[in-house]
Amino acid sequence: MNVVLGITGGIAAYKAPDLVRRLRERGAEVQIVMTASAGEFVTETALQAVSGRPIRSNLWDKEAEAAMSHIELARWADVVLIAPATAEVMARIVSGGAPDLLSTICLATEAPIALAPAMNHVMWSNPATQANRQVLEERGIHILGPGIGSQACGETGAGRMLEPDAIAATVFSITGAKGKGLLEGRKVVVTAGPTREAIDPVRYITNRSSGKMGYAIASAAAAQGADVVLISGPVSISAPPGVDIVNVESAEDMYTATHDAITDADIFIAAAAVADYRPANLADQKIKKNDEAMNLHLVRCPDILASVAALDGAPFTVGFAAETENVIDYARGKLEKKKLDMIVANRVGKDCGFDRDDNAATVLWRGGERSFPNSSKVDLARHLIELAAKHFYAARGSETQPGLTVRSNID
Ligand code: PMT
Repeated sequence: MNVVLGITGGIAAYKAPDLVRRLRERGAEVQIVMTASAGEFVTETALQAVSGRPIRSNLWDKEAEAAMSHIELARWADVVLIAPATAEVMARIVSGGAPDLLSTICLATEAPIALAPAMNHVMWSNPATQANRQVLEERGIHILGPGIGSQACGETGAGRMLEPDAIAATVFSITGAKGKGLLEGRKVVVTAGPTREAIDPVRYITNRSSGKMGYAIASAAAAQGADVVLISGPVSISAPPGVDIVNVESAEDMYTATHDAITDADIFIAAAAVADYRPANLADQKIKKNDEAMNLHLVRCPDILASVAALDGAPFTVGFAAETENVIDYARGKLEKKKLDMIVANRVGKDCGFDRDDNAATVLWRGGERSFPNSSKVDLARHLIELAAKHFYAARGSETQPGLTVRSNID
């Protein structure tokens, strides 16, 4: 994957050499384009050494333009990543101006663009910056973070650049490129979304799952180099790039699709909200409302997760537990009863879990647990994949994949 990495003038530019290393560890070619003010925070010498390519910074550099013009650079990129992205560069991209090399490339490229904003929290929350963020997102530009925490200025708030490894992983999942990662050469099967259990040709029983959690997990696994099969119930979000999607409707369909995909899988993650019961009989025609009351006779659906965990040579199996009360106790019960390797316990209700962009979870395994505070489902998914990968390799007797240099952020 070819990455044009734009570096702009913020203190977080000191993390740029680490970001270049993380991208290259995953197999990316990185061409750096610096703005004039980025040079106040990080040297060209350091960046050239880690990227292995001459740094581009000047639109009017005749020699560099002769080697690869700014238009060729814009075409070469599979993704344009700007990290750190200042308030100034966000405003410049919104306005469509092209006074320097980086903004010219942003105008001239057809590749996806991702920005990792980094600035003082008051600058980030300023209505002008937020309006620019909104316009950029509406135009399909990916905004990564920013994170919340202590800042270089000594204050605390939203505006920290995300950590380099998180940025690198997300960039790979945006493009769908199979990077080198913790799960390179591994097959991961993920279920996501709700199921629909038909009552008659026009009615069904379902639940509030949007698929966001499962899709984020599939995307995070692909970003770690896995071959991912995503088995999805009916949702209204787009398939993440770089994963094979199998669309299903009912629990029975999801059971069949899962067992078709599972034979050579290394890891199975069941994030779908699968129906526990379905109508015993499917009416051929729309049921008419003749009586004051009606009864629906329901029968159990197959338990996909338990059936995979019970296979001979089962993959490393991760379930979810969606609970409204006694979350941890019920989840531990499911871990044992379904003989899982790991379970992700999350509280669900009107204002948490389902159909939101954020989630909090506690992951349980035999002999341990780890809690993740509320964060975006994308961030949570990245942590869950790192944790699952670590336990998967530990269960198979090797700490990590042989020859792999990508480090995990999970202790
Ligand atoms: O999709 P979102 O809107 O992003 O919401 C995310 C989520 C809340 C749906 C997700 O985080 C979650 O908790 N998914 C599991 C929902 C669920 O069905 O939980 P459960 O506790 O009822 O089931 C336990 C486990 O058994 C789950 O892994 C489930 O996929 C699996 N199961 C359940 C029933 C069944 N018939 N077959 C199964 O495989």
